Amino acid sequence: MTTTAAGNGVKLNFNTDWSYAPAPETAKVEIKPRYDLFIDGRFAAPSKGQYFDTTNPANEKKIAEIALAGAEDVDRAVKAARRAYDKTWSKMPGKERGKYIYRIARMLQERAREFAIIESTDGGKAIRESRDVDIPLAAAHFFYYAGWADKLEYAFPGKRPKPLGVAGQVIPWNFPLLMAAWKLAPALATGNTVILKPAETTPLTALKLAELIQDADLPPGVVNIVTGAGETGAAIVNHPDVDKIAFTGSTEVGKLIQKSLASSRKRYTLELGGKAANIIFEDAPIDQAVEGIINGIFFNQGHVCCAGSRLFIQESVADVVIRKLKDRMATLIVGDPLDKNTDIGAINSKMQLDKINEYLQLGQDEGAEMWCASCDVPTSGYFCRPTLFMNCSQSHRIVQEEIFGPVVAIQTFRTVAEAIEKANNTPYGLSGGVWTDKGSKIFKVTSKMRAGVIWANTYNKFDPTSPFGGYKESGMGREGGLHGLAPYLNLN
Ligand code: NAI
Ligand code: MG
Repeated sequence: MTTTAAGNGVKLNFNTDWSYAPAPETAKVEIKPRYDLFIDGRFAAPSKGQYFDTTNPANEKKIAEIALAGAEDVDRAVKAARRAYDKTWSKMPGKERGKYIYRIARMLQERAREFAIIESTDGGKAIRESRDVDIPLAAAHFFYYAGWADKLEYAFPGKRPKPLGVAGQVIPWNFPLLMAAWKLAPALATGNTVILKPAETTPLTALKLAELIQDADLPPGVVNIVTGAGETGAAIVNHPDVDKIAFTGSTEVGKLIQKSLASSRKRYTLELGGKAANIIFEDAPIDQAVEGIINGIFFNQGHVCCAGSRLFIQESVADVVIRKLKDRMATLIVGDPLDKNTDIGAINSKMQLDKINEYLQLGQDEGAEMWCASCDVPTSGYFCRPTLFMNCSQSHRIVQEEIFGPVVAIQTFRTVAEAIEKANNTPYGLSGGVWTDKGSKIFKVTSKMRAGVIWANTYNKFDPTSPFGGYKESGMGREGGLHGLAPYLNLN
C-alpha cells in the first residue's frame, strides 16, 4: 500500500496490491449428509450398503456421503429405464415430452443460485463461473432441446426419427451440471430414457437435479442417476440392455470404452481430451486477444477440454503480448471459489493437482522457461497459480499432452503456414482460436485447422444451438444443436 499527496494537497491512497475486500456468497443451501441412488423415480440405498465421501476441494472437508452403485444397482436402473421407455416415454407424443423438459428448464432457472453454490462447493470452480456460465447454460440446453421434442420430423426431413431406447451416460467433473444437461436434454427430447453417472468428485448437482426431476413429476424411470467411480461407469457401458453410450472424459477411458463397445450393437459418442491452439497474429487487437488468452486457459482453472492450452504468437508481437499477458495475470485472484471476486478457484481434486504439479516440474526439466503469477494462494485446499511456459518446442510433453490446469505453453511463429502446421501437430483436435483483424485470414486459417470448434477473435463461448465435438483423439460424434439429436435417433 502506498500513500501519495495529490497536487491539490488531498492525500490519496493507491492500493497497489490489487486486494479486494472478501465478498463471499452467503446464501444457505440444503445439502443432505447422505445421498442415495435415484432409480425409478425414488431415492434408494445401494444394494451393498456402501458409500463414499465427496469433499470440498477448497478446504479438503467432507461435504456428504454418496451411494456407491454396484453392478446390481446399475441393473436395477437399466430395468427401470427400460420399463419407463416401453410403457410411458416412447409412447408419449413429443409435444408432451417437451412440456416436461421445459418444466425442468424453468425450475433450474428458479433454483439457479442454489445450484451455483453447490457446484462451486463440490467442484471448486469460481462462483462467478458457476453462476454466470454453468447453470444458465445448463438451463439453456433444456430449453433448446425441449423445443425440438415435437419437431423431430422437421429436423430430419424425409426420415422417420425413432428413439434408440435406453441411453447410458457417463460424465466428468469439470462441468458437472452442464455435462448432465448436455447429455440428458437431447436424450429426453428424442424419446430415450437414461441412466446417468456423474463423476465421483462432483456428484452433488446431478443429485440435486434428481430432486428437481422428482419435483417436476417426470414419469418414474425416465431419468435414473447412479453414483460411483470407474467401475460403476463400466457397469453402465457394458450392460447388455443399454442401446447407446454417451461419454465425456479422458482419452484414456474413452479408448477403453470404444474397445469394449467394438463388438456390440450399441451406438456411442465420445467427447475426449484436447490441446487447443490459440493463434495470435500480429494484426490482432492485442488487448482483446490478451483477455481471450486469459479466458481461454484460466477459465475454470483450466479444467476445460477445449482450453487454449497451446498459445502461438506471431514473432513480431510476441514480446508485447507476453508482457501484457503477465501484467494481466498478476491481477488474477486465486482463492475461495465462493468469493465473487475470485477468478481462479480450487483445482478439482488432489489427484488433479498432483498431475498439474508433475507437468510443472516436467516442463522445467524439458528446458522450457516457467513463469507463475506471484499471487497469494490459500494454504489449505488444492490451488495452483496461473502459469506460462515460454521457449517451448513442439516435441515437449507439456506441448503435446493435456495438462487440464491453468498452464499455457507458448510458442512463436513467422508465417501463416507455419502457424497452421504447428497448430495441427497434435493427436487432438477438439478446438482452437484465431485472433486477427483480417476476415479473409480467419477463413483461410480456420478451414485448415483440424479441430471441431474454432473461435475467431473470442474464446470459450458456448451456445446450445452450436454443435461441439472433436477430430482425431478428441472423440467422435457431435453434441449440441441439431447435430446433437441424431446420435439419439434411428433415422431409417
Ligand atoms: P476419467 O475419464 O477417468 O473420468 C470421467 C468419467 O468416467 C467419470 O465419471 C469416471 O467415473 C468415469 N470412468 C472412469 N473409468 C471408467 C471406465 N473404465 N468405464 C466407464 N466410465 C469410467 O477422467 P479423470 O481420471 O477424472 O481425469 C483424468 C484426466 O482426464 C484429466 O487430468 C484430464 O486431462 C482428462 N479429462 C478430460 C475431460 C474432458 O472433458 N475431455 C474431463 C475430465 C478429465
Ligand atoms: Mg467434491
